[in-house]
Amino acid sequence: MAGPRVQPLSPSDLLPPQPGEALHARVARSLRHAVTQGHWPQGARLPGHRTLALQLGVSRNTLVDALGQLETEGYVTSQGRSGTRVSAPLGQGPDHPPGPLPLSAWARRALAGQDEDAGGTYEVDFRVGQPVPELYPEAAWTQALARRAGQSRAGAEALRDPLGPAETRQALAAYLNAERGARITPDMVMLTGGTQSALDALARVFLEPGRVAASEVPTYSGAWAALAASGADVVGVPVDAQGLEPAELPPEATLVYLTPACQYPTTVTLPFARQRAVLDWAARCGAFVLEDDYAADLHHTGRPPAVMQGLAPERVILLGSFSKSLAPVTRSGFVVAPEAVTRVLAGTRPLTDRVPGVLDALALGDILVSGAYGRHLRRARQGLRHRHEVLWTALQAARPDWRLTPARAGLHLHAALPDGAVALEVVRRAAALGVALTPVPGTPDAVLLAFAHLDVPQLRDGAARLAQL
Ligand SMILES: Cc1ncc(COP(=O)(O)O)c(C=O)c1O
Repeated sequence: MAGPRVQPLSPSDLLPPQPGEALHARVARSLRHAVTQGHWPQGARLPGHRTLALQLGVSRNTLVDALGQLETEGYVTSQGRSGTRVSAPLGQGPDHPPGPLPLSAWARRALAGQDEDAGGTYEVDFRVGQPVPELYPEAAWTQALARRAGQSRAGAEALRDPLGPAETRQALAAYLNAERGARITPDMVMLTGGTQSALDALARVFLEPGRVAASEVPTYSGAWAALAASGADVVGVPVDAQGLEPAELPPEATLVYLTPACQYPTTVTLPFARQRAVLDWAARCGAFVLEDDYAADLHHTGRPPAVMQGLAPERVILLGSFSKSLAPVTRSGFVVAPEAVTRVLAGTRPLTDRVPGVLDALALGDILVSGAYGRHLRRARQGLRHRHEVLWTALQAARPDWRLTPARAGLHLHAALPDGAVALEVVRRAAALGVALTPVPGTPDAVLLAFAHLDVPQLRDGAARLAQL
């Protein structure tokens, strides 16, 4: 069968190369373009390989590779001695410019709820959310990872458990029971890729449009955004000098998010009487308390307060993260929940990330059991305490008009500005002096200063610059 022939090609018909693209891939892309744009009609017979290679100025091998690729994709069909024909499905017209993406309501809410990164580089950058390389227990973590990675069957069993390796959950439960006054069995623990993924999983399981979630205000914007992305109505519960005000908790909420050990961002610890009041509210309303214990391992002095989970394991869902206390590159954390909740989380997880990062999880279990994590924390806390002290002293001298809250844990200081000061204006004037500060969303008269990632001369330099505001 003769059929139509295609127009002869020339080297100028090759599309411009893309970075790193092999020549045969470029030839394939150009021929595919000829078919999809209708330059080569359906059923047309291609010239022989040698002729086509000559027309395009490429070797015969390159051309054969490219045609093989097109044949696999169904654009051409090789018919032995009678040559190769165009066989692209009819109706494949020219490319259309892409229109707006058909985003889901969840994606639209998620994108709208995120903080913009202001960017910029500064002589002294006090902004929160920066990794602290000094907190990385390099030797212990490298050893634990290497040992587990070297075991050829590492984690084979754990890959079947959506909660994560049983031995790590056991080590974590033992650690939290011994160190934090928790009441946990390994079956209540699910390992996660950090607190953010825990919040996302819980929001998907418990929230939807028409439901109500409560959260401290001001709060960690990552938590608020995850709850709000569910479509639930997120109600802010005010925070005063002691933390969340329990009397303001809405009775219709399915859950409340809070940071009792070290309120984010004010850093105050919720007094025991208020913790009890929150738990009474939860019991009365049938709500869950999401206890974000993000700073517990970063307590500067003494022991961190016991977790609320130990007071009411049936009402409290405890969230923890190792992404700061261990290594910025380790996306590692956990959820502790009543077993009925953990079973639901385990049942829904296969649809998202199946299982947590098993290698990291096994290494984490090892450094918990060996005591290496505890030793690392003792060293890290000393460093944090020292930097906190340096910034506190230097800032008090530089800005006696700012009211600083002494942080007993965590990586930043909270500064309340004097009456009449506007945080955004202070942030702008500080930037002109080469200093970056973080404003507190929803609080017009406070700023945050992260100290843990800066060395002593930088901390003093930053405070001295702020004296000139
Ligand atoms: C209040 C609060 N919770 C949790 C986290 C940690 O989240 P992740 O484990 O996702 O890094 C942070 C980190 O900035 C935080 O500030």
